[in-house]
Amino acid sequence: MPGIGTVDNPAALLAKPHWYRNLPAEADVHRLGDGLFAVTGNAAVQEALAHPDIVAEHPLKASARAFGPNVLDADGPNHRAFRSLLAPILSAGRIAEYKQRLMPGLISPLVDSIAGIEADDFYNSFAHKVPYGIVCTILGIDASLEDRFHELTRPLARLLDYPTEETDQTHANVAELLRLIEQQRAARTADGQSLLETIERTRDRKGISLTDSEVRSTALLFFLAGTETSSAFITSLVYCMGRSIFDLDELRDNAVRDDFIEEVLRLYPPVQTIVRFASEDLTVQGVDVPRHSAVLTSIAGANRDPRVFDNPDRFRTGRSLKGSIPFAVGAHACPGAMLAKTEFSLLIEKLAERCSDIVITRDRTGTESQSFAHPTNFSVEFRTK
Ligand code: HEM
Repeated sequence: MPGIGTVDNPAALLAKPHWYRNLPAEADVHRLGDGLFAVTGNAAVQEALAHPDIVAEHPLKASARAFGPNVLDADGPNHRAFRSLLAPILSAGRIAEYKQRLMPGLISPLVDSIAGIEADDFYNSFAHKVPYGIVCTILGIDASLEDRFHELTRPLARLLDYPTEETDQTHANVAELLRLIEQQRAARTADGQSLLETIERTRDRKGISLTDSEVRSTALLFFLAGTETSSAFITSLVYCMGRSIFDLDELRDNAVRDDFIEEVLRLYPPVQTIVRFASEDLTVQGVDVPRHSAVLTSIAGANRDPRVFDNPDRFRTGRSLKGSIPFAVGAHACPGAMLAKTEFSLLIEKLAERCSDIVITRDRTGTESQSFAHPTNFSVEFRTK
């Protein structure tokens, strides 16, 4: 039921994992303070994300300041131009090629390295390897620079949080990443298929008026969006494989695997909260939201709304997932969803082939609360056949 709640200390509230649970359950739209609203119910979140006057662009947004104009922080025609630059890289045809030629060569070494071991910190030691390998290859970045990109990119996740963590260091990391992307562009790949070359060609062919620096900022945003989301989510997948009671062999079936991935996406969406702004006075589910307000939409809350998902905290494959929105909805809905699901499915398939059992051996789990959330503090053993 829609309504308004209020809180005394929004920053403290938002620092908590599953912060939406600390707001009155009978309300979907909450005024947290002057010019600050939180949207938590499934229908309300979907309405807010699709609302034409709830926009992504804002001069005070940390990500826009740090990255420069880019796809995530733009609206309207400019945003559509950014999206059409990325479309050829994420087409079904390109994904089929990545699945055949790129992904197996990254997934097999990872599975080899974890088979038979117990990992105490899967997220930091292993989860990034496949996503960084994929996105570096697509961007045309030399494999020897992957660790450097990882080290520079990971702290940037905090730029997407609210309240944000924007420091001299995050700005220095962005500058260095843009320099490295440009340097790799100058080195050119042999086949002309790198992201920068593809988006520059698309720009020129379609007559899209974006500057070189906007193209590079979008490449960097693509990098962050394609790597850190997936590293966090692969951690959640492994955690859920280790906790689930069913036989690993069942995950060798395509349809079972898809259901499994979708249910983990519902419970552990790596993007927990999306920050937007009201460009006009408007209403969400009948609640007034004044112009210029920040609007925090909770994907995590929407995906555990008990009015949509029966027993929402329970992991249950095969349930109806209509209303689960881990990739968001509206103009900014994730264009990488198909690539991501292809990557996850292949990874699970190979793990299920190689391992007899995946077991959580230590579980003092918490969840990182905002951008790129994943279970923390667990050990996992990959037992082999
Ligand atoms: C588990 C995997 C992933 C999840 C859950 C996810 C989720 C999301 C969400 C919720 C958004 C909307 C953010 C916002 O509106 O502020 C988004 C945007 C985006 N994602 Fe993903 N993503 C994933 C993987 C990927 C991958 C693998 C790529 C590319 C290789 C990618 C590329 C992008 C891009 C470019 C945007 C910006 C779109 C725009 O602003 O129009 N994502 N993603």
